[in-house]
Amino acid sequence: MKLIDGRKTAELIKEEIKKEIAGMIDKNDKSPHLAAVLVGDDPASQTYVSGKEKACKKVGMMSSVYKHPANISEKELLEVVDFLNGDPEIDGFIVQLPLPDHINEQKVIEAIDPRKDVDGFHPVNLGRMITGMPAYIPATPLGIMTLLERYEIETEGKNCVVIGRSNIVGTPVGILMSRKSDPGNATVTLCHSKTENLKDIAAQADIIIAAIGKAGSVTADMVKKDAVVIDVGIHRIKSNQTKTGYKLVGDVDFDRVSKKCSYITPVPGGVGPMTIISLLTNTLKASKKEIYG
Ligand code: GUN
Repeated sequence: MKLIDGRKTAELIKEEIKKEIAGMIDKNDKSPHLAAVLVGDDPASQTYVSGKEKACKKVGMMSSVYKHPANISEKELLEVVDFLNGDPEIDGFIVQLPLPDHINEQKVIEAIDPRKDVDGFHPVNLGRMITGMPAYIPATPLGIMTLLERYEIETEGKNCVVIGRSNIVGTPVGILMSRKSDPGNATVTLCHSKTENLKDIAAQADIIIAAIGKAGSVTADMVKKDAVVIDVGIHRIKSNQTKTGYKLVGDVDFDRVSKKCSYITPVPGGVGPMTIISLLTNTLKASKKEIYG
């Protein structure tokens, strides 16, 4: 079994981005600028946004965070989005999800200018992705495709089983894996909570992408010998093996599955670090106007 090292791959790409930005600054171009809108005080969202800020700093990108209280109205938030759409200093921005219940998330996503939608959540970007046009690809699916590419894992003609159909991960990665591209050209089965015989379907897969959101739910009996296993899950569970009393695990039962498969992404250190780097990749593309011209 070989580990797919997301940390190392993310570091390599970080260096590539850093070099490119240094070159832009040398030529008197401004460095790319990513903004994040953070609503409320959800600790996980705060951690994600500060991780994105730190990553920007490391590669020489500018970053701004627009913080608003949880009781901001939908109208006010739409005004913030409108402001960022029109600000020529900002190349791309994200609105950190989830939003409070009184705000219609979809409405906010649809208010973002697709040219600045570096999360790739706007229906225009999703539609462009489906039709194979240049588009911002959501960060986690882009991170997964980049890992498959950098590790030269053959996907063409392979059976790929994606477990989970979220708009952010499962559905887009299923589309990317089946697209006429490299990586891609796989035969994809998209499984979800209503799938019958999940174990039998997963056991046929050459490549499993687990994005279920339930710790350890992909067990060794669901995995064919020498399959490639990509684990998108991240869960903090109680553990008596660590000082803190907690440890991070994925959707895959790593200890048992890793004995059977050919490649596997660990948790932490697999898909996670690739997500932030993919957001930076999209922001760099935004600043170079690579997608929309
Ligand atoms: N919340 C969890 N993941 C994400 C993400 O990739 N983008 C945004 N905007 N919110 C998130």
